[in-house]
Amino acid sequence: MLMCGGAIVVTGPSNVIERQISGDAEVIDATGRVVLPGFVDAHAHPVFAGNRVDEFEMRARGATYEEIAAGGGGIRSTVRKTRAATEDQLLAHAIKHAEWFIRCGTTTVEAKSGYGLSVEDEIKILRVVRRLNKETPVEFVPTFLGAHAIPEDFQSAPDRYVSLVIDEMLPRIADERLAEFCDVFCEHGYFDVQTSRKILSEAKERGMGIRMHADQLTNGGGAELAAELGAVTADHLEQTEAPGIAAMKRAGVQPVLLPGSVYSLGKTGYPHAREMIEAGLAVVIATDFNPGSSPTPSMQMVLSLAATQMKMALAEGVTAATINAAYSLKRGDKIGSLEAGKFANFALFDCADYRELAYYFGVPQTHSVYVRGERVF
Ligand code: NIG
Ligand code: FE
Repeated sequence: MLMCGGAIVVTGPSNVIERQISGDAEVIDATGRVVLPGFVDAHAHPVFAGNRVDEFEMRARGATYEEIAAGGGGIRSTVRKTRAATEDQLLAHAIKHAEWFIRCGTTTVEAKSGYGLSVEDEIKILRVVRRLNKETPVEFVPTFLGAHAIPEDFQSAPDRYVSLVIDEMLPRIADERLAEFCDVFCEHGYFDVQTSRKILSEAKERGMGIRMHADQLTNGGGAELAAELGAVTADHLEQTEAPGIAAMKRAGVQPVLLPGSVYSLGKTGYPHAREMIEAGLAVVIATDFNPGSSPTPSMQMVLSLAATQMKMALAEGVTAATINAAYSLKRGDKIGSLEAGKFANFALFDCADYRELAYYFGVPQTHSVYVRGERVF
């Protein structure tokens, strides 16, 4: 692979490449190692304060995610801490997460808001995402998730919160160009299909791409709504059955599967990856990195779960974690594969066969990581 100015010039056999280089070229010797495109993590919530390790222990003792949320924990507990944090504090915390992503071989990460749930706090999170792009080598792709939960202060008037999202948050975020995508947690007890449709239609009007948390805990027709609205992705899909899969195929919606959240919540109902692949869908896998349901930044772990729990072939897993993910972030022409003209974003792993990444799960295998030709790990 010959690189120049942060981009890939040509790929091919060493003897062909060697004929094209000048004497002062720097050589990266990858002998005995695997070289892959930097992972593209197309679903993550990396900006938040605190953690939820206490809830993790409660689940270890038998409580469920839904019970903890009903008791005032869950998303709302992270919202309380995130509101209390300053922009600088959130940035410092998120820089640590960015370092984790890089160490795992991930060079592009989607970043959702959704732990502010007020005009100023949602904007605060998206400003942190903007600063992360300046202060870390990771490329973060901002998504507005104001409709992540009804905040405590609007419990008795959820409709007023929906109006706040539509009439105040969306216009400001669109005007300040703080987000490329808009997402909604379409779920029983959070935002139903009608409300999700209203919010996402408005976001579409304002030129934003649409992603959705769909059919995670219950099947409420989320995949069908994603298809109806022409969403770029429908994510989670643990409860999605054949009609939802067919609707996504008709509309060209990409499924984003998040097995880390099923695993970490101690559940067993993984999404039907095989049916989706057989239907011809360009499946994406992602970490869903967040403090509640999926506290892992590791695409290596996700590859392992894809193989063992969703019966995805290792090559399908890598495809889902790189090029398919890149297209779902509208960056398929720039990242996600090692081809001439693309950014030189890649990682070297200490193994001789890419399948060992998922096989030796939990073993750190990242040797080095490059973003636009510069070594960042
Ligand atoms: O993708 N489902 C909604 N959002 C996150 C969980 C967020 C949280 O628990 O803090 C998810 O699983
Ligand atoms: Fe999520």
